[in-house]
Amino acid sequence: MTGAQLEKILKKHDNQSSNILAILQDIQASENYLPRKTLEEVSQRLLVPLTQIYHLATFYRTFSLTPRGRHVVTVCTGTACHVKGAASILNNLERELKVQPGETTTNKEYTLETVNCLGSCALAPLVVIDGTYHGRMLGTTVLSMLKGEKKGASKKS
Ligand code: FES
Repeated sequence: MTGAQLEKILKKHDNQSSNILAILQDIQASENYLPRKTLEEVSQRLLVPLTQIYHLATFYRTFSLTPRGRHVVTVCTGTACHVKGAASILNNLERELKVQPGETTTNKEYTLETVNCLGSCALAPLVVIDGTYHGRMLGTTVLSMLKGEKKGASKKS
């Protein structure tokens, strides 16, 4: 994140330490993660201890301290989803995206994640793409959805 971008975010929140959560949300939205260098600068500028910032950054699941892709694909590997073929879906995604769970593609488009159970077992196997639940998925369907997204993304740029 450039200094000018951070300046704009801090100004938007009146350079107030009481707005630290909103500031972190804006940094996350801009970078798809919270870069250490930026957090150090926020700490110095707002006189908020870096440990306090890291406490917030690790407490809320919405924040990530490692680079994430523009799209987050989460495959549920809980028991119900496993029985209905989650492993096959995950294998297809690993092969197509060339990443393992927890990793981000080199072009920063996709982050692949797994979760144990999302509490919607009736929809198994379940895949979540950018926060939207997609139930009763097939590996090929997920890949088609992502390829559609890839085409859409390239049209926009
Ligand atoms: S096991 Fe996947 S939603 Fe419960």
